[in-house]
Amino acid sequence: MELSRRIKSLPRYLFAELDRKKQALRQQGRELIDLSIGDPDLPTPQGIIDKMSEEIRDPRNHRYPDYEGLLEFREAVASWYWRRFGVSLDPSTEVMALIGSKEGIAHLPLAFVDPGDYVFVPDPGYPVYRASTILSGGIPYTLPLREERGFLPDLRDVPSEVAARAKVLFLNYPNNPTGATATREFFREAVAFAREYDLIVCHDAAYSELYFESPPPSFLSVEGAKDVGVEFHSLSKTFRMTGWRIGFVVGNAAVLSGLGRVKTNVDSGVFNAIQRTSIWVLQGNMDGEVEGWRQELRRRRDVMVEGLRSLGFKVEPPKATFYLWLKVPEGYTSRDFAERLLEAGVVVTPGVGFGEWGEGYVRMALTVTEGQLREALRRLREVKL
Ligand SMILES: Cc1ncc(COP(=O)(O)O)c(C=O)c1O
Repeated sequence: MELSRRIKSLPRYLFAELDRKKQALRQQGRELIDLSIGDPDLPTPQGIIDKMSEEIRDPRNHRYPDYEGLLEFREAVASWYWRRFGVSLDPSTEVMALIGSKEGIAHLPLAFVDPGDYVFVPDPGYPVYRASTILSGGIPYTLPLREERGFLPDLRDVPSEVAARAKVLFLNYPNNPTGATATREFFREAVAFAREYDLIVCHDAAYSELYFESPPPSFLSVEGAKDVGVEFHSLSKTFRMTGWRIGFVVGNAAVLSGLGRVKTNVDSGVFNAIQRTSIWVLQGNMDGEVEGWRQELRRRRDVMVEGLRSLGFKVEPPKATFYLWLKVPEGYTSRDFAERLLEAGVVVTPGVGFGEWGEGYVRMALTVTEGQLREALRRLREVKL
């Protein structure tokens, strides 16, 4: 059976060999510490489960949801946005529910990108920006994220003939995999660039609440942003609801309407019981839980940064997210280094899996207990580099 050219042109899966080794070690009974998973290890807070237990019993939640989300959900998002970012949104046209932010990111190019159009994708980056571009027939144009620029792309580097043929600019701060955050100044540059070339900015803010310093700004908080773009959010990482599949996109009404045209044809919205539970969550009922989660992640981050420094690694504490982006020692590729750590019983993701500019780094997800992180450090100490 022949796969479509579209599917065949998706980037190759790079880690088959590493996965095979991981599997083999597990079969030998080795207990691995897995720092490769971008999924909270702690369960969804009990309050959310209790609220869901109520909502699931209510028959009005059992029917097909509207693809754009309940108006009450969109109102709750708009109120949360105002409280958190000082950005005002019209719930009826500037907010839409998503079946996780991945769903919206994956569908957006289908609404706006024609075959041959360029889409700007950050590299290293969340792989879905590139994949969704290819699935829509677009051409991904790599924006390198370099450490010396704080992992912000240099938009002045882009040739104007490419920008003129581009439709979408994907950005993501706080950033997966680097843990970098963006300034309002950078967002202003992005708005000016988008205006000049008539681009849609898609800012992915899935990690906006997992911060350790001042709360990161919304892209929409800079002047003119709503004229050119949208922002994606998720309840997944903030409230440890990855399996529940709920997120949202907010901002430019025409962009939301285009995405809505795709959604009406391919999905049927988010389970209403989950939306009603999420309204309660966004009303601030879980804010204390989120603060506790941030504190837990901060402790883990500090243990790991201090431990890695004591092993001679140069590493800066990330300002946000639960990822550590670690430069590999001289003489290693990111894959060689990940393999070396795997032999010692620690699983990390080679940076090259996030794009060619991720070469030279590995990503460690702090989604294991502090005790396991300390054990990972003990194992790393024994690795001969
Ligand atoms: C940068 C980024 N954006 C979006 C997502 C998707 O999250 P969800 O679909 O659970 O909202 C992820 C998940 O790992 C991510 O890392």
